[in-house]
Amino acid sequence: MSVKKFCATLVLVLLFNLTADGSSKVLTLHYPPDKSVVESDYMSISLSTIEGFDGHLKVEVNKDETTKILPGQFRCFRVALYPGINTIDLLAESGGKSVDQISITVFRRSSIISRYRIPPPEFTMAFFHMQDHSECTGCHVLDPTEADRKPANILKLSAKSGNEMPGSSVSTCYSCHKGILSDKYVHGPVAVWSCLSCHDPDSDPRYSVKRPDSDMCYECHLEEMKIWSSKKYVHGPVNLGKCTICHKPHASDYPFYLLKQSWDLCVSCHVDSATGKHVIGDAFSTKGHPTRGYPDPLRKGGELVCASCHNSHASSFPNLWKYEVESLFDLCQKCHNK
Ligand code: HEC
Ligand code: HEC
Ligand code: HEC
Ligand code: HEC
Ligand code: HEC
Ligand code: HEC
Ligand code: HEC
Ligand code: HEC
Repeated sequence: MSVKKFCATLVLVLLFNLTADGSSKVLTLHYPPDKSVVESDYMSISLSTIEGFDGHLKVEVNKDETTKILPGQFRCFRVALYPGINTIDLLAESGGKSVDQISITVFRRSSIISRYRIPPPEFTMAFFHMQDHSECTGCHVLDPTEADRKPANILKLSAKSGNEMPGSSVSTCYSCHKGILSDKYVHGPVAVWSCLSCHDPDSDPRYSVKRPDSDMCYECHLEEMKIWSSKKYVHGPVNLGKCTICHKPHASDYPFYLLKQSWDLCVSCHVDSATGKHVIGDAFSTKGHPTRGYPDPLRKGGELVCASCHNSHASSFPNLWKYEVESLFDLCQKCHNK
């Protein structure tokens, strides 16, 4: 080792408690554990730096650099994830040099992308609220208060309520989970931080939700339940009560809190219909009916999508036609009588 390099190392050792083998204690990662399974599009990270560290932190997700320069000893933030395995590199830099690095991998599971449905065996689900986090409670409140437990008056919610953000005075959950409202459309009970109307604080694992999803959703969406259960034909996943296979429970960038754009959502399961040659009867055995790319004649301002002709939940007809008609011909007439 050259004298110059030795001196530089010595300075680093003195400044940041570097150990002789080069590993350092600048960064301590408190959350998440390496090899976690994540169910959402993002992951919260909480780490601390040693006292006196005046550098900055660089965060790379899959080598895509996002630099964060955050003051303070405790650093809490969120990163966006892709489906599948994500590599997260946390680099502490000071004076243009890297002084410490922690790398972890997490698996973003997805129930609608088949190759990401089952995590590789080395990844495990780490329920945050099932572990001791006394190192967080110096700054955050972790146990729900009476106010959190009070049922929200959902009758007071309108479709517009989704854009209001009451903030930390309303909920204990806010300080860590405020990012949940960052999507365009926010579901009513989430917008008013009525988290415990779906998440049970006394369950095991803590904050579990009722399954199947329909048991949870129908507590408020009673009208829909009545209508759909009165129909002769119910869509496969609805019949199984799997509402969250299509809907996000909290918020989404798509209307109706859908996981994807409506058309993309349908073809993620109905792959054959994605060709754009949806066959409707003999007249179309060679040429399919368009399923997108035109306005929907029956919904002002809406695009033609699968749900223009099909009901996503239930119908009186085997092919889940959206409209109450007597025959296939009548269905065509709905749009083609002009
Ligand atoms: C020294 C104080 C402190 C400690 C200890 C602390 N945090 Fe934080 N945390 C904060 C502050 C300040 C914020 C920002 C709050 C705000 O902007 O409203 C925050 C925000 C967060 C966020 C939200 C980040 C975002 O960008 O949405 C999460 C998640 C979080 N903390 C998790 C944790 C966890 C987990 C622990 C324990 C391992 C922890 N924090 C310990 C101070 C702390
Ligand atoms: C100290 C920060 C903090 C507070 C306060 C907090 N959470 Fe969390 N919670 C987390 C972190 C971190 C995760 C892991 C997921 C992630 O990356 O955001 C998590 C995960 C969860 C999960 C998924 C299951 C699990 O245990 O991993 C649920 C559900 C949840 N929180 C609900 C709540 C509710 C409801 C409240 C309010 C009563 C709350 N949390 C308050 C930090 C916090
Ligand atoms: C309408 C019911 C409902 C409400 C209200 C609700 N959640 Fe959830 N939450 C769920 C369901 C269902 C899941 C499981 C995820 C899935 O199946 O897609 C979940 C999962 C989570 C997770 C795990 C990671 C993720 O994002 O999927 C966190 C964290 C969480 N909820 C926090 C909260 C917080 C904080 C609130 C209050 C603002 C809240 N939830 C309100 C139904 C709800
Ligand atoms: C605690 C009561 C409550 C629960 C539980 C609940 N919702 Fe809602 N939901 C509402 C309220 C209130 C609205 C109206 C405000 C809005 O548009 O978000 C709503 C609206 C919706 C909408 C938009 C309706 C429209 O016509 O625009 C969808 C989609 C939806 N919920 C799906 C779900 C799903 C899926 C579940 C189960 C994961 C669920 N909800 C559970 C209260 C609830
Ligand atoms: C196959 C995907 C899918 C499943 C599964 C699903 N939905 Fe929907 N849902 C949609 C789509 C798409 C819309 C938007 C309206 C449309 O275009 O049909 C919607 C709309 C809604 C609405 C708005 C009112 C309405 O009738 O249009 C509510 C409420 C709702 N869903 C609740 C639920 C509940 C509760 C479940 C579980 C029992 C569920 N959904 C299961 C795709 C689905
Ligand atoms: C999570 C997977 C999934 C998604 C997403 C999905 N479907 Fe389905 N769909 C199914 C299953 C499973 C069946 C039942 C298949 C069977 O019985 O042959 C079904 C059946 C149907 C049928 C009836 C077929 C028949 O033979 O009667 C129609 C129509 C349909 N889906 C339309 C849609 C539309 C429109 C969307 C988007 C709003 C959609 N599906 C999204 C899984 C899905
Ligand atoms: C213009 C109206 C229309 C549109 C748009 C449409 N469908 Fe259909 N779909 C029908 C009709 C009508 C039938 C019944 C065909 C028959 O009886 O020969 C049908 C049948 C089906 C079936 C059951 C038969 C089969 O092919 O397996 C599924 C599943 C289906 N559609 C899914 C979709 C999906 C997914 C989309 C979007 C990519 C879509 N449909 C778009 C009218 C439509
Ligand atoms: C929800 C509305 C809707 C329904 C229901 C519907 N169509 Fe269409 N159809 C359209 C739209 C939109 C187009 C594309 C614009 C156009 O050509 O007018 C289209 C185009 C067509 C075309 C021209 C295709 C081409 O490639 O040029 C034919 C033929 C057709 N439809 C027949 C039918 C038949 C047969 C049925 C009943 C089985 C039917 N449509 C049901 C909306 C609908």
